[in-house]
Amino acid sequence: MKSAIASVGFAASAAAKCLSGKAIVNLDITTGPAEKLGSGFLYGIPNNGTSASNAIPDHFFTDIKFHGTRAGGSQLTDGGWSSGGKRAYDQRFNSTLSTYRSARKYGGHFILIANDLWGADGGQDGALYPGDDGDWTETEAFLDQLIIDMRANNLIEDVTIDIWNEPDYPMFWDRSWGQYLDYWNHAYNYLRKNIPEVKLGGPAAAYAPDLSREKWHSFLANIAANDTIPDQYSWHHIGDDSNWPDRSASQFRQLREQYSLPERLISVDEYAWPWRQDPANTAWYLSQMERNDIVAMRAHWGSKEDLHDRMADLLGKTGDGNYYPNGEWWMYKYYAEMEGERAETRVSEDVNFDVFATIGDGVVKVLAGTRTYELDPEVGDYVLEVNGLDSALGLDPSGTIAVRTYRFDYEGAFGEMGPPADLGTEDHDLSDGSLRILYRPANNETAYAFEFDF
Ligand SMILES: *[C@@H]1O[C@H](CO)[C@@H](O)[C@H](O)[C@H]1NC(C)=O
Ligand SMILES: *[C@@H]1O[C@H](CO)[C@@H](O)[C@H](O)[C@H]1NC(C)=O
Ligand SMILES: *[C@@H]1O[C@H](CO)[C@@H](O)[C@H](O)[C@H]1NC(C)=O
Ligand SMILES: *[C@@H]1O[C@H](CO)[C@@H](O)[C@H](O)[C@H]1NC(C)=O
Repeated sequence: MKSAIASVGFAASAAAKCLSGKAIVNLDITTGPAEKLGSGFLYGIPNNGTSASNAIPDHFFTDIKFHGTRAGGSQLTDGGWSSGGKRAYDQRFNSTLSTYRSARKYGGHFILIANDLWGADGGQDGALYPGDDGDWTETEAFLDQLIIDMRANNLIEDVTIDIWNEPDYPMFWDRSWGQYLDYWNHAYNYLRKNIPEVKLGGPAAAYAPDLSREKWHSFLANIAANDTIPDQYSWHHIGDDSNWPDRSASQFRQLREQYSLPERLISVDEYAWPWRQDPANTAWYLSQMERNDIVAMRAHWGSKEDLHDRMADLLGKTGDGNYYPNGEWWMYKYYAEMEGERAETRVSEDVNFDVFATIGDGVVKVLAGTRTYELDPEVGDYVLEVNGLDSALGLDPSGTIAVRTYRFDYEGAFGEMGPPADLGTEDHDLSDGSLRILYRPANNETAYAFEFDF
């Protein structure tokens, strides 16, 4: 285990200068209980036939209050139903069942990725796609088998079927958009009729909602006109900095209203590019998801067996199969320990600095992180502003408060880490019931947490 590295000082109170912007916590306004909405990941659990896996010790799941996973046997065989035949499908189904059983062991919900079982899990452009030549026979045979297997194995409770992953990205849907919309309607109606007990989700789009994206318009027009509205709306936030959850959730609301669609749970079931998976960026993602009530899962960038392992890069693994936590895992553990009511928060004006905050039993916890950014030393630092210590917590509006700081370091997915560095407490003077802390992270990967008692 690595020990704490030298401590970074945070100034006792922020100067007037905060030219890089500030992130805000308003303790006066709460937004519902903290439920670890972002503590899930794509795949990441080892296979064990059709049984739950014990390979990763339980506490790695329970400590982060694991929220859910998404799987469908991807990459284990050459192709699935459409090109590898029934045997490849069976292997993928067995893996799906094993992952489901593992997820349920920890109370997690499960998103079943139908196209991974079909065998379109990346780059199968030559394979058969649903609805090729206007023929749905093979699609229905596949769905029949899937429904039989789900029922026979009780793969029902807390399941959402993802109708197709990233249909707006040719690597996953190498056919026309019109054919996708037809498939959506076919699969949706078939599943609703034959397995109404499970939920349906989509479109799991690679590109987050944006009023300028024609595919979002035609998808929503289609589901509204044909009454094929999923139980959860889903999309991904990977690699596209021109859109982020605050923005996409707001664009989606406008789109949803334009097509008179009902409100539903929003699931961002892949977040963060590989080089955005570190404590700083992940704290930023979690803050964005929590603010918008989005249930979210980390993306997983492993291949083959590794895709089914290491909790989507939260754990490292030794040559003899022992798991150990990296810096990100420790940050999810802290996030899981943020109990109580969520406080309203706001991202910095440049969208690079964000916070998540909870008001627990006598303690306020604030997790802060930056999206990778260029720090201009001439411009200055970010400021974290916490308002309402007087009105919400009953503290003296011009009193002094002791704030404890934790630092979450990172040394890559395979860099073993111990608990976050405890930087101790510093006294901060309040002004009009507000606390201001200068925020300058050690580097682009480091996140911080601040705590104070009341
Ligand atoms: C696999 O599942 C069996 C139960 O079928 C269980 O006894 C065993 O411990 C599991 N092994 C692993 C490595 O998960
Ligand atoms: C899937 O699991 C079942 C039940 O354990 C087993 O009988 C079958 O052989 C497995 N199929 C494949 C292809 O692994
Ligand atoms: C409704 O579904 C049909 C069949 O898939 C499709 O042809 C039609 O365009 C859809 N309606 C809208 C408004 O998208
Ligand atoms: C963060 O990353 C950017 C882009 O790689 C780099 O230009 C910048 O210097 C880094 N900032 C810090 C504080 O390390």
